[in-house]
Amino acid sequence: MAGPDNCCSCCFSFIVTMGLTALFIWLSLRVDQPKFYLDSIYVPALNKSLPSTTTANDTVLFTIKFTNPNKDKGIKYDAVRLNLSLFLSPNSTRLLSNSTAVAPFYQGHQKKAHKPSSASFLGNLTPPAVLDGKVYFRVDFATAVKYKILFWYTKRYGMWGGANVEINDKGVKVYRKPVRLGNEPPRIVNGVPELRGGYRALLPLFVAGWIIMRTR
Ligand SMILES: *[C@@H]1O[C@H](CO)[C@@H](O)[C@H](O)[C@H]1NC(C)=O
Ligand SMILES: *[C@@H]1O[C@H](CO)[C@@H](O)[C@H](O)[C@H]1NC(C)=O
Ligand SMILES: *[C@@H]1O[C@H](CO)[C@@H](O)[C@H](O)[C@H]1NC(C)=O
Ligand SMILES: *[C@@H]1O[C@H](CO)[C@@H](O)[C@H](O)[C@H]1NC(C)=O
Ligand SMILES: *[C@@H]1O[C@H](CO)[C@@H](O)[C@H](O)[C@H]1NC(C)=O
Repeated sequence: MAGPDNCCSCCFSFIVTMGLTALFIWLSLRVDQPKFYLDSIYVPALNKSLPSTTTANDTVLFTIKFTNPNKDKGIKYDAVRLNLSLFLSPNSTRLLSNSTAVAPFYQGHQKKAHKPSSASFLGNLTPPAVLDGKVYFRVDFATAVKYKILFWYTKRYGMWGGANVEINDKGVKVYRKPVRLGNEPPRIVNGVPELRGGYRALLPLFVAGWIIMRTR
């Protein structure tokens, strides 16, 4: 016996169920992008402690770190291509190597992965005088990812980014922590400390300051 009351509560619970389903679908389709870092790099040809016969070594060893910030989504990475370039001037680079650094792999939710790899390069690494005897590499990657939501994969999303990395006379990077391969432009700005993560945190202050100045 379905009276009017019964029908109304049935209708109400239907609406609530639909609402919760929509919320659940929205929450489960939202994804956070993975982050890519140059965890370490070693260029034997730039290690001044090695005998000079080994400066002919054309190997670069490096490790790329991947982090998946999603609590309940896996990530399937396509092969990661990596370009290493040498800065010839503050705003120009020469390609040293162009390789597939990491084979496709799957990463579970909230996992970190460290993928060691290597590449060989052509040409000599003598730093040009314009850079004050310092050696800067440009590291660029490109790949695509699919997110795994429950049992399904999303479409592919292209990902790319890069960073400028100073290499010291031990052949390793000067900045000790992993370097985010983000949206740093391929340009060396002399005399200005590298802003990295601090930049975004400071930006709202600059904007706020600018608005205050304008409205006075
Ligand atoms: C540079 O070469 C020296 C001498 O062989 C070695 O002890 C050192 O570990 C090398 N540096 C790195 C970062 O591997
Ligand atoms: C270059 O250096 C790497 C790392 O030290 C070493 O494994 C490799 O054997 C060297 N290659 C040559 C040709 O010396
Ligand atoms: C590079 O910088 C030099 C001097 O700072 C400038 O003259 C030149 O136009 C710049 N080149 C490019 C491609 O931005
Ligand atoms: C980089 O590698 C890709 C794939 O192997 C190749 O198609 C491309 O021609 C290379 N580019 C350069 C500038 O070497
Ligand atoms: C590497 O350099 C080549 C030639 O400039 C370019 O076509 C390719 O897109 C670059 N790859 C990455 C991962 O930046």
